[in-house]
Amino acid sequence: MNDEDAPKSRLVRRHSLVTRLTHWVWAITLFFLLQSGLQIFNARPNLYIGHESGFEYQNSILDIYAVNRDGVLRGETRLFGRVFDTTGVLGVSGSAERPQTTAFPAWATIPSYRDLATGRVVHFFFAWVLVGTLAVWLVNALLTGHLWRDIILKPRDLRELPRDILAHLRFRFAHGRSYSPLQKLAYFLVFAVAFPLIILTGLTMSPGMNAAWPWLVDLFGGRQTARTLHFVAMLIFVLFFFVHVLMTVLAGPVNGLRSMLTGYYRTRPEEFRSTEEER
Ligand code: HEM
Repeated sequence: MNDEDAPKSRLVRRHSLVTRLTHWVWAITLFFLLQSGLQIFNARPNLYIGHESGFEYQNSILDIYAVNRDGVLRGETRLFGRVFDTTGVLGVSGSAERPQTTAFPAWATIPSYRDLATGRVVHFFFAWVLVGTLAVWLVNALLTGHLWRDIILKPRDLRELPRDILAHLRFRFAHGRSYSPLQKLAYFLVFAVAFPLIILTGLTMSPGMNAAWPWLVDLFGGRQTARTLHFVAMLIFVLFFFVHVLMTVLAGPVNGLRSMLTGYYRTRPEEFRSTEEER
């Protein structure tokens, strides 16, 4: 093959305006939801399974607390009965002179001081922003074919998935027009599992929704289990966030960020075949 026949690196349109706008709204929204959620959690830093919660029940799976051990204030976390010393981060934080006895430290919550009422206002505001933006994303994704083309895994994606996982493990990333199979899987799980789980478990905790949709409480096995699953979904998002940003950096942060800001992505078909062109 001579140079003229060689496939060229090309700038292609990868993300629509709606995809880009909704993406950045989620990134900001999830930050506020996380920090205000931890403020609300701090008001009752225990997680339970089932319908009951309270001092008379022994059904907690997570407790974060401060305890005085031989005159020294320590922060401890009990997870499934196992106790961990988490002084400095969970239970007790702040400086030695001014220790703070909250489950999550001031820097992780909104507001940074103890204020459940404000935390709830911030949390519920951004929760509806998230739901609204997701609805806009879904309508756009259905109308433009983004959902079917880029998010839903086809049999071919599933066949190529093991190879793509191996390529990721070797830090070899596809730079085709569309997402690679592993990327599709990650985003599919975000839209089909993580977002629905965090929204539905959030709604399950709302007394208004309990009256309107009582089946939600049964679906999640009680409000306390829903609260625990809401917390787990939050952890999934935190994990996704770190892996997602790491992948963006490893795969080429300038190209990735340009595509999520301007819509345009530089494909490198000489290194990797464009999945779209193959179809
Ligand atoms: C928790 C916050 C975030 C969530 C839930 C999230 C989720 C997503 C999702 C679902 C997509 C696919 C969107 C679609 O195709 O419709 C995506 C793409 C993308 N995200 Fe994020 N994201 C978050 C934060 C970030 C941050 C902080 C960065 C910056 C490093 C980032 C960079 C990107 C890039 C560059 C893409 C496009 C990847 C590509 O074209 O290959 N994201 N993100």
